[in-house]
Amino acid sequence: MKAIVITAAGGPEVLQMEDRSQPVITATEVLVKVAAAGINRPDVYQRKGNYPPPKGAPRDIPGLEIAGTIAAVGNRVTRWKIGDKVCALISGGGYAEYCNVPEGQCLSAPGNMTFVEAASLPETFFTVWSNVFDRGKLQPGESLLVHGGSSGIGVTAIQMATALGNKVYVTAGSDEKCKICQELGATKAINYKTEDFSESIHKLTDGKGVNMILDMIGGDYTPGNIACLSEEGRLILINAMRGKDVQIDLAQVMRKRLIITGSMLRSREIEFKSAIARNLEQHIWPLLASGKIKPVIYAVFPAKDAAKAHTLMESGGHVGKIILSFE
Ligand SMILES: NC(=O)c1ccc[n+]([C@@H]2O[C@H](COP(=O)([O-])OP(=O)(O)OC[C@H]3O[C@@H](n4cnc5c(N)ncnc54)[C@H](OP(=O)(O)O)[C@@H]3O)[C@@H](O)[C@H]2O)c1
Repeated sequence: MKAIVITAAGGPEVLQMEDRSQPVITATEVLVKVAAAGINRPDVYQRKGNYPPPKGAPRDIPGLEIAGTIAAVGNRVTRWKIGDKVCALISGGGYAEYCNVPEGQCLSAPGNMTFVEAASLPETFFTVWSNVFDRGKLQPGESLLVHGGSSGIGVTAIQMATALGNKVYVTAGSDEKCKICQELGATKAINYKTEDFSESIHKLTDGKGVNMILDMIGGDYTPGNIACLSEEGRLILINAMRGKDVQIDLAQVMRKRLIITGSMLRSREIEFKSAIARNLEQHIWPLLASGKIKPVIYAVFPAKDAAKAHTLMESGGHVGKIILSFE
């Protein structure tokens, strides 16, 4: 099969198409003929050599989400048959014509979605569900601040939380990105380059603060995050792009009874990811099938142009998802 391989740690040009043998499936896995693969920021970190894949994942083929057709099933697989159209979360190896997936991590492509659309879903939908709704227990009526509102994660969090009855605020780095976030359902998008987000949240919530923050930024955002959380607020970290060493006012944590937590999805066990898949199937897939939540695709590249796709992601010019096509 053809695969996009990280030939050495480095810039986008290290991504090269090579011939590799097809993965061999275990009894509880399916083999998917990949039609499209989503690109995520963690793929960029892996390409640069800063994010080693977990045990069992391919060492040099990136890719955390795919959509395609099942080409083979292990002899203990019960849910799927050859020919089923699925999308799936994987721990690596998505930038390839074939990919092996634990059966529990597959979902049917919702509604009449194309493979490109379906491939844009798993990584951000699993991450947002797991952090915001399972870990953070966001309740209907509560407010959520999402940093990086125009990111793949951001556009998912805006739509999912809005659809489930939450008021969503976001930060983004341009007025154009802010406008798109509001069109997707955000109550207010704050341009962090021209406004202090923490002060803005204070004003927008009449001094109460937000119930939850989904944060991928960390670093110097952290004191502002702590300051604009409400009583019993939850700060949920999924990355720390502006630094992991921070100083915080612990008195505020105690006074407001805050919870600071976070998680990393990729290295979690199959059972954990499969449980998220079943929750998404029940609570979110119907909203995708009805069009209440929509995939946000910014660009699609042929697989051979994976380097161009990574260059775009690193430029920060995109809103939503960038996809590789293998068709
Ligand atoms: N923990 C987990 O399990 C998990 C899983 C998936 C993803 N993630 C993390 O979630 C984040 C989003 O992933 P993605 O694939 O959706 O990425 P993405 O689409 O490339 O988005 C990254 C976003 O970060 C913002 N940004 C970048 N540098 C910034 C800075 N210095 N200050 C403020 N904002 C900044 C950009 O927005 P502007 O252009 O508006 O600045 C951009 O929208 C990544 O950090 C990724 O590592 C974590």
